[in-house]
Amino acid sequence: MPYAEENAGELSPTELTSPIDEFGDKLIKPPPLPVLEKTQGHLLYDLIIKTILQLENRRDIVILKTIEKNIKAMYIKDEYICQIEQIGKGSFGVVLKITKKTGFSYVLKVGSHKDISYESFNIEMLKHDGGNEHVIKTLSPPVLHNNIMAIVLPFYDTDLRKIIFSKQTLTDNHIKCILVHILIGLNHIHKKNIIHADLKPANILIQANPLKCIIADVGIAQHIDSESMDPYICSRWYRPPEVILKQPYSCSVDIWSFGCILYELITDNILFRGGQCGDLSCYDELSRKPYNVKGGMFDLIQENVKTMRAEKRLAIEIRIRNYDTKLLDLFQQCMKINKDERINAEEALKHPSLIDCVEWIKSTQK
Ligand SMILES: Nc1ncnc2c1ncn2[C@@H]1O[C@H](COP(=O)(O)OP(=O)(O)OP(=O)(O)O)[C@@H](O)[C@H]1O
Ligand SMILES: [Mg+2]
Repeated sequence: MPYAEENAGELSPTELTSPIDEFGDKLIKPPPLPVLEKTQGHLLYDLIIKTILQLENRRDIVILKTIEKNIKAMYIKDEYICQIEQIGKGSFGVVLKITKKTGFSYVLKVGSHKDISYESFNIEMLKHDGGNEHVIKTLSPPVLHNNIMAIVLPFYDTDLRKIIFSKQTLTDNHIKCILVHILIGLNHIHKKNIIHADLKPANILIQANPLKCIIADVGIAQHIDSESMDPYICSRWYRPPEVILKQPYSCSVDIWSFGCILYELITDNILFRGGQCGDLSCYDELSRKPYNVKGGMFDLIQENVKTMRAEKRLAIEIRIRNYDTKLLDLFQQCMKINKDERINAEEALKHPSLIDCVEWIKSTQK
């Protein structure tokens, strides 16, 4: 049965590509992407970077205000004047939205040379031999000034975390479309033997109209052949058991995180609110098989939750089962405690819960 027909009464294919109303009036249609003027662009980055260097011990707000003032003073007559807004902040530095007078916006991710050059390298690796439209790309080469580096990214309307937090109702079709886009991007990343290692809603950027999801923040991505793989990967609510237990891991790390996102999308709730380094206690609610993992930390936590385990498992399963039994199956295949039993991205794109949506997306791209 064709996708639109099966979902008759919910959304037509046109609506699926135009979920703008559902996402609220905060989102505006992005202007068409013009080419970034490199000469002017580089002057601008230099200025930002120099200013950050001068003020690196001051608070962000002071830095940003000074940058904005300097840029206004320098570019207002050149029709280059822009607005600068901080749209993100992490341990690495800041994410700035730069808006040109033409209305075109782009993003500068600014941080230490070490952090940003690693991310920039990963973005290039993912683009090599053909990129993927659901994986982040840069608009121009990175800029380095002393120890500070900036990468230039397209600006997207929002990220998935903000959408989930906004409590706007996502339809079945929106959710499936989002999941398929993430899986297409993930499949591309995994085919290159790279593990994203930090998949979470805040790292999925969203273009609102037409709806498009982009996997971003490849700042800790790992190549599976690298000699020493970082044991400290994944944000804690999206961290699989093998990472918590510091065991060997593979691309299936991202599938676990994907399962957490799937759950969050359909329930508006975070699946595992783990403690400082992740909390193994909740994981066995989803596993029908006994753990074969041995470890003091696991035993300790398991003891603490013995009484509430059955009740919690029931709540999770009922909530998801009410939603869509096929998606429940996909969810369970992502959340296998044994990393080798998890479904992979390519298989997930053929899963009965998503196959119609995949076909429909393919047909619109022809
Ligand atoms: N190109 C972009 N367009 C729009 N918003 C963006 C863009 N890049 C980043 N952001 C916003 O900034 C936030 C932080 O960016 P990003 O995830 O790249 O940095 P990070 O600090 O390394 O992340 P983390 O918090 O995982 O350490 C994102 O969640 C998103 O809200
Ligand atoms: Mg991030």
